[in-house]
Amino acid sequence: MDEKMKKILSEVKEKIKGVKDLNVLNEIKATYLGKKGVITELASQMKDLDVDARKEFGKALNDIKTGASELFDNLKNKLETEALNKKLENEKIDISLPATKIECGAPSILEKLIEEIEELMISMGYDVVDGPELEEDKYNFEMLNIPKGHPARDAQDTFYIEGEEILLRSQTSPVQVRTMLEGKGEKPIRVICPGKTYRRDDDDATHSHQFMQIEGLLVDKDISLSDLKGTIDVIVKKIFGENIVTRFRPSYYQFTEPSVEVDISCFNCKQEGCNICKHTGWITVAGAGIVHPNVLRMGGYDPKVWSGFAFGFGAERLAMLKYNINDVRVFYNNDLRGTHSFDRKDSE
Ligand code: DAH
Repeated sequence: MDEKMKKILSEVKEKIKGVKDLNVLNEIKATYLGKKGVITELASQMKDLDVDARKEFGKALNDIKTGASELFDNLKNKLETEALNKKLENEKIDISLPATKIECGAPSILEKLIEEIEELMISMGYDVVDGPELEEDKYNFEMLNIPKGHPARDAQDTFYIEGEEILLRSQTSPVQVRTMLEGKGEKPIRVICPGKTYRRDDDDATHSHQFMQIEGLLVDKDISLSDLKGTIDVIVKKIFGENIVTRFRPSYYQFTEPSVEVDISCFNCKQEGCNICKHTGWITVAGAGIVHPNVLRMGGYDPKVWSGFAFGFGAERLAMLKYNINDVRVFYNNDLRGTHSFDRKDSE
């Protein structure tokens, strides 16, 4: 019996020799020590032996079990240690390698430009206000003197969300109305509202279905076009340089009367003629005007007492001009090369 058992041990040794895989080792272990394994099955022979022989058999069986377990465990430990060492070897850090460069975040140039204008306006006593992008028709159009069915609505290709009443604002001008309603016809107003706007445009180099406007509104007493011109002058000089001059051309907006288009002298060619100003020497940067009496009235301000001016800049257009970008999609395609390179250029 002893001999037979010893044979089992040497058989185990033989079988696990050269095994390199833990799974294979476990399989072999199961064939010896598992529920139906060779060693486990030996125990069933005990019942046929007399007391003395059973004692001896029991002891031998125990020895063989311990011996086999040891063989399996030792090899298991060895394989695990080898695997760990190999892993550590592969993960060794080479401290002589150059470090991975961590890209720093930077504000987008659009954001920077808007902040620059905000700071300037705050220094002139303006508040920066906000309004909802999901807007009601009455604020986006009706209370701006653009009633239902008016052709001026067509030009704005609006995204309607629910019926004809809820829409994505097509301009930041509704914030004018909301601000006036808050002022309750009593307080003078000086606000700018930079914000996102939406129109059903197909995206291309000069159109984006989502873009940003910077709205301005001032309501006070005895406000005239020259106040508007002075204010616009300060803004464009801040963005494009002290030598820039502005001119107003007559225009038409439903919510201002008179309305103007704001042109600046070309900062690129000093009005000698170039591609940016299309050889005219002038570049259009904003729409503006004196707030229409109807708009004041609907906003709760008595036009006999109050007067005001309003303006609207296209933020991307300003940034494109300032940073010489010829595709509006640069602002929205998430390619950091755009903002980063412009950022550097700006800080030079
Ligand atoms: N809301 C106009 C637009 O989207 C821009 C504009 C023009 C705003 C004249 C104004 C303004 O406040 O006075 O085309």
